[in-house]
Amino acid sequence: MTAPLDIVIMAAGKGTRMKSRHPKVLQKLAGRALLQHVLDTAAQLKARSAVVITGHGAAEVEAAIAGAQSAEAGFDLKFARQEPQLGTGHAVQQAVPQLKDDGLVVVLSGDVPLTEADTLQGLVDAAGADKLALLTVTMADPTGYGRIVRNDTGTVQRIVEQKDASEEQRAITEIYSGIMAVPAKHLRAWLAKLDNNNAQGEYYLTDIVAMAVADGVPVVGHRIFDALQVAGVNSPLQLAELERAHQLRQARSLMEQGVRLADPQRFDLRDDVRGAKADLTCGQDVEIDVNCIFTGHVTIGAGAKIGANCHISNVSIADDAVIHPFTHIDGEKAGVEVGQGALIGPFARLRPGARLGREVHIGNFVEVKNSTMADGAKANHLAYLGDASVGERVNYGAGSITANYDGVNKHRTVIEADVHIGSNCVLVAPVTVAAGGTVGAGSTVTKSTEAGSLTVARGKQVGISNWKRPQKQP
Ligand code: UD1
Ligand code: CA
Repeated sequence: MTAPLDIVIMAAGKGTRMKSRHPKVLQKLAGRALLQHVLDTAAQLKARSAVVITGHGAAEVEAAIAGAQSAEAGFDLKFARQEPQLGTGHAVQQAVPQLKDDGLVVVLSGDVPLTEADTLQGLVDAAGADKLALLTVTMADPTGYGRIVRNDTGTVQRIVEQKDASEEQRAITEIYSGIMAVPAKHLRAWLAKLDNNNAQGEYYLTDIVAMAVADGVPVVGHRIFDALQVAGVNSPLQLAELERAHQLRQARSLMEQGVRLADPQRFDLRDDVRGAKADLTCGQDVEIDVNCIFTGHVTIGAGAKIGANCHISNVSIADDAVIHPFTHIDGEKAGVEVGQGALIGPFARLRPGARLGREVHIGNFVEVKNSTMADGAKANHLAYLGDASVGERVNYGAGSITANYDGVNKHRTVIEADVHIGSNCVLVAPVTVAAGGTVGAGSTVTKSTEAGSLTVARGKQVGISNWKRPQKQP
């Protein structure tokens, strides 16, 4: 039997040890707020609703999450404020008015980002319609955690917090993860009976376990073996440790699909700064060298290679393209396309709306923005192409730029097929260089040119024989 799922996420804590101006649950792991990771996992459970308990930085947390969440989660997202923070039991009490009696409540923490949906589903299944299920894990060093106290037959009796535990209880290595599934109707009754007669003077959510036992409600300890899934973030060091663990998981999963990562320890895939979700899809035989950072939505075609130290974001890279080291690509919202067999970099920069055809070559210190380059076009050194349409096989010389901005408006430059733009040219948009034309080095082109013509637009060379340089006066 399955009851509708309602999620409660505790996120009212301050996170003092982060020493941040921002609430802990908004700290980012792989570019995404910790709390958002928890909500995303909850969304995979097909929950009916989620209530986030906020306190410290409540307004900031609510604004960040309500905005990011929008309609995509598929559940009703609500907030409840807990002020002051009197313990985890008190936190969940704040959600009670928003919980329906027919639901199974899954309690999560906003600072535990790496729990997997399958694990939560296992917990939900263990709870069934009428049991209290606790997610537990065994730790070599259980210090600080609530211990799972079982009787001689192995039945869970209660949870005892570290500070309230006897020596004997402190020796127990099975700990409570902070995650439980509990029928709403029982939860409501038990929370109403909590007190704060304990070492910390707090209302402990964990005290409901003994109440369940007293009421004859079965308690199941659902044990997992991957401590990472219940690890919380309290400090910058823990955040970095979980980040690495998460990245290693992502790296492993790509490698299982056949992606060749030079070093899975030096790989990062994150949400982008605008919140586009991390999403990397690779074809067969993709090779990725060390220290690359991928953000947002990236696809890499079969046989493509990414050199070391590239930052690659929101781009579709076709088969057999080669991105040489130290290249920066960010398609932001408009995207970037790199054609089949294209060669990009080293030290190239592709910006939003760069659409490069097959076998295009972009060399060092070349920037391309909002421009199309047809098959076989090349810009190999020190150049800028902005708001340009570049035809097939065009050769765009070193140091040339499109002057696309007149201080108010942006204008387009059209370079038709088979044009040769010499070095150090300025193409003042709007302007068209017609097919097959040649523009001499150092030209400033302000008027459109004829097909097949040579355009030279620069001061004529003057030679003065026997020129005497001025001499220094004695
Ligand atoms: C809690 C459990 C402990 C478990 C551990 C796992 C209790 C009493 N103890 O202990 O058995 O082993 O988690 O990590 O539940 N929070 C609020 N409001 C409050 C207090 C806490 O929202 O008034 C939030 C915190 O921000 C945090 C979560 O609840 O996200 C857990 O609180 P924390 O103080 O870390 O609980 P622990 O003492 O670690
Ligand atoms: Ca904790």
